[in-house]
Amino acid sequence: MNLLSLLATIAAFVVLPNAHALKPSKCGLLLTQPCLSTTDKRYDANFPNSFVMQNLSWKQYEGLWKVTATNFEGDGIPAQPQPHVPALNYQLLPYTRSEAVAFYNHTLDGSRMMTYGYYFYRPAPSSFCNQTFEPPFQNVIGSGFCGVNGFVSGKAHYGTTTNEKEGDLELFRSVESGALGRDVIDFDPPAKGSWIDSSTLWGSTTIDGVFSQTHSYVFLNNDTAFVSLSVIDLITSSRQANYVAKMTRMDDTEWIAAVEQTYNDYNILEEDKIPVPFEDFSMDPEWYPAEKEWCGGVGSDPACVESPFQEPDAKLKTGPLVGFVILGLALFCVPMYGLYRYQLGQQVRRIKTCFIQGIAKNINIAPTPGALTHEKLLEEFQHMDRDNGGTIEKAELKQWMDEGKVGKISDSDFNVLWSALDIDGSGSIDFVEFCTFLSGCGEAFDEVYNHQQTMSKEQKLKFASQRFSTRSLPNNVCISNDIEDNA
Ligand SMILES: *[C@@H]1O[C@H](CO)[C@@H](O)[C@H](O)[C@H]1NC(C)=O
Ligand SMILES: *[C@@H]1O[C@H](CO)[C@@H](O)[C@H](O)[C@H]1NC(C)=O
Ligand SMILES: *[C@@H]1O[C@H](CO)[C@@H](O)[C@H](O)[C@H]1NC(C)=O
Ligand SMILES: *[C@@H]1O[C@H](CO)[C@@H](O)[C@H](O)[C@H]1NC(C)=O
Repeated sequence: MNLLSLLATIAAFVVLPNAHALKPSKCGLLLTQPCLSTTDKRYDANFPNSFVMQNLSWKQYEGLWKVTATNFEGDGIPAQPQPHVPALNYQLLPYTRSEAVAFYNHTLDGSRMMTYGYYFYRPAPSSFCNQTFEPPFQNVIGSGFCGVNGFVSGKAHYGTTTNEKEGDLELFRSVESGALGRDVIDFDPPAKGSWIDSSTLWGSTTIDGVFSQTHSYVFLNNDTAFVSLSVIDLITSSRQANYVAKMTRMDDTEWIAAVEQTYNDYNILEEDKIPVPFEDFSMDPEWYPAEKEWCGGVGSDPACVESPFQEPDAKLKTGPLVGFVILGLALFCVPMYGLYRYQLGQQVRRIKTCFIQGIAKNINIAPTPGALTHEKLLEEFQHMDRDNGGTIEKAELKQWMDEGKVGKISDSDFNVLWSALDIDGSGSIDFVEFCTFLSGCGEAFDEVYNHQQTMSKEQKLKFASQRFSTRSLPNNVCISNDIEDNA
């Protein structure tokens, strides 16, 4: 009878949706829903953030590449040299643009991507250089001569994986450098990249309604890929540029030699060169984003930015019919109680009785059966939970017990009690564990209840007046099985 009313109370408390500001218990316990992280990698803090570990196809993207490209204007005609306007920085290039050579260095470092590229343009043809341009137009960039010297620009891109952990890329910064100085562009929203299949990497940079640029890499094997790029101007509804290229893998020595060779072939002036290997790309803090820029400042590296996918507060399993929960608790508690008995014998029972006694002194399960309301139970839980952390820590319970609520308890008895309470061994007791434990204490409750029933009126009054006093149980020593009478 008394056990049932206790269970009903617990069940009522547990299923009450507005059951107070108790901190959640952990997911995936017997009474709570499974953790999202077991089925959804976004919630799994242990799932790697690394590109390569999320999708092995990134492995073929890494490394050093030579790229030979053909550029077309939007109308499909090979790209022509453009008179340069210094204020537009790297946009209009007074060089042969229909064909270009580039050298890429793709580095993946865990959740971070750094790509560095050298883009080479041949000197412009004489048909272009013969023309006269009025300022602000000019037919050369830097200190060279039109038709004599070629041009190189260096371009770095920085990106990260995402909190979705799908192996996708978010590029957040591009830095262009060369004779014109440095030009930093942050993408907001970031540019995207994802694998469509194991050999196709697709990317896009868009500003809704302004422009849309798509980029694709198709890897034929580990050493060869085709790249295409198309830029659509959404304001004028026209295609602005097309670029098709072939990428060929090179090793370090070949790659460095090929860059040097292109400097010679394109007659690039010494002062316009970007050194190779360009350590500055990775070392110079003016190129390389600062840690705070990676971590939420511009980029959002999942390795250092808190994910929005956090395990929600644990929910009780569904089917919140009181009867169902009672049954569940009872089914769960009976074997558990049996197990404790089997494992720990009378020790646990004795300690339980003491513990229930301590609680009963405060929350007064007598003289009215069922007077143990969920508010009272919560009050007691919160009373033990000194720091209001939502869980009872070992030290908090010890403090509560040392106040004399339960009389003296030895350290070894206390440890037995603690391990009986801390079901999941987490080092703290949440409310579900608290309730679960109490629901296995029916016998102890009955004992305390029956004892309270036998008290005389004066005893009860005295008992009540001493309820919150730390000196209330002078003779109550938890070594005996007896229910002490405080009279
Ligand atoms: C450009 O000028 C050079 C000499 O200044 C001349 O030889 C050449 O034919 C010219 N080319 C064109 C396309 O006008
Ligand atoms: C990379 O992702 C794509 C798209 O989800 C998938 O088809 C491909 O199999 C993945 N590659 C590897 C090596 O896992
Ligand atoms: C691809 O080539 C790179 C560089 O030569 C090498 O490190 C990597 O192991 C190769 N991967 C495969 C799958 O052959
Ligand atoms: C490629 O980039 C990495 C890191 O960003 C750098 O350490 C390495 O020296 C570069 N390799 C060459 C050949 O420039």
